[in-house]
Amino acid sequence: MNDPASRVRIFDTSLRDGEQSPGCSMTPAQKLRFAHALSELGVDVIEAGFPASSETDMGAVRAIAREVRGATVATLARCHQGDIEACARALEGAVHPRIHVFISTSPLHREHKLGLSREQVLQRAVMGVELARRYADDVEFSAEDALRTEPEFLAQICSAAVAAGARTLNIPDTVGYTTPSEIRALFEYLRANVAGAEQAVFSAHCHNDLGLAVANSLAAIDGGARQVECTINGIGERAGNCALEELVMALRVRGEYYGAHTRIDSRRLVPTSRLLSRITGMAVQRNKAVVGQNAFAHESGIHQHGMLKHRGTYEIMRPEDVGWAQSQMVMGRHSGRAALSDRLQTLGFALDEAQLNSVFAGFKALAEKKREVFDADLEALVLGADKRAARGHRLARLHVSTGVNQDSLPTASVQLVDADGATVSEAAVGDGPVHALFAALARATGLALEIDSYQVSSVTTGDDAQGQASLIARVDGVEVTGSGTSTDILEASALAWLDIANRVLRTRAAGAAEPERRAAAIA
Ligand code: KIV
Ligand code: ZN
Repeated sequence: MNDPASRVRIFDTSLRDGEQSPGCSMTPAQKLRFAHALSELGVDVIEAGFPASSETDMGAVRAIAREVRGATVATLARCHQGDIEACARALEGAVHPRIHVFISTSPLHREHKLGLSREQVLQRAVMGVELARRYADDVEFSAEDALRTEPEFLAQICSAAVAAGARTLNIPDTVGYTTPSEIRALFEYLRANVAGAEQAVFSAHCHNDLGLAVANSLAAIDGGARQVECTINGIGERAGNCALEELVMALRVRGEYYGAHTRIDSRRLVPTSRLLSRITGMAVQRNKAVVGQNAFAHESGIHQHGMLKHRGTYEIMRPEDVGWAQSQMVMGRHSGRAALSDRLQTLGFALDEAQLNSVFAGFKALAEKKREVFDADLEALVLGADKRAARGHRLARLHVSTGVNQDSLPTASVQLVDADGATVSEAAVGDGPVHALFAALARATGLALEIDSYQVSSVTTGDDAQGQASLIARVDGVEVTGSGTSTDILEASALAWLDIANRVLRTRAAGAAEPERRAAAIA
């Protein structure tokens, strides 16, 4: 089973296809943090971004290329000279760089998106791969909308890409249109009809528009794919991409059936999933396979009875094998700085002296309030410290009062310190305490957020668990997410609101409007 021919490479595109989808944008520091977590998880390739889309993405990819070791670092480019050169610049310093070039191949995209004939598309693909090969030995070619492309043309363009030097051929189901039997047959056809097929790794990249992304990726493996492109929690354009955790566990649990394996450390799946939700503020649905809260919960009496007799009656994998056990208590108020640093390193956080000091101060304060500090609490502390260190408004004081009778009007007052150290205080009333709080923050920052979604969940378990507030808001027509964590859910809510406000104010200050970046991003 562990022979090289049965190994499926995991290409994670959470930081590119995932990050460019609504509600999932990350700061460069967050992207770097998450890239380290992916490396710990054991992914083979990290697609770090699309450097030509913005200077911000270029900076984030550069940092990942310099710092992350072990995994191959890939970057995306259209078959344009400028995009490919931007990839080459971004990847300077990477130990294993890969340039990933793509062009649309389906009749619909050729005619309506590119306005190019088959021959022109073919020429551009060859030009793109050849140029990319001047900068990197490892070049991947993707035929966008491959599943709606004429199979003979797909075989022809893939043959030309191999001849031009591509060593990975990615066959994306860009719009989530295919079915398992269709995609398996296509991979079999391509392996038999692409000239030089034996020199290339075939790769699947399935979107989830019909909820089939994981099933289609597994069928592609049956058809001979040996790389799968996927994202943590299945984030990605529209309905998302193939969920990494589901694909990996399907191959683990049904390894004999698929005759394929990955080198993912499955015990890191839940911590990596939670880290991503905490960074993006995008919660995972409770009944999501593998990483959802209910994935291993047994409520009905019959199931509980069966479980008590034999776990195998209702569980096909053990929660600890996918990382659920990792939220055990790890530290308390007597734990020292060295123990904290050690634990953070195990969790994949490489902090400098100043960052460690800030997290240690937060840890001590938290340990005074909570008896037990879990891994998830530590992750929330590190991310909170990142947010505090980023330029923007900081919450200095907060007071909220509320009541249910007519004499008590929900009222909130806040004091903020802005990036230049100036203090501003404001107060407001509202329909409820959260409404009043958000109104006071809007006055203090001069920023109007149109709230689309507001959720509070607990970071760990127990009466004294920290609350995480997750917000999705619309600002100037663009969706932005934010999150905040505290043992006080009103403070967590204020921090989530400020997380969004600070992102918006930083983007405005940099003059790099988010809509422009998104317009440049690709499916
Ligand atoms: O979905 C898609 O076709 C893509 C390509 C750019 C690989 O994301
Ligand atoms: Zn995609």
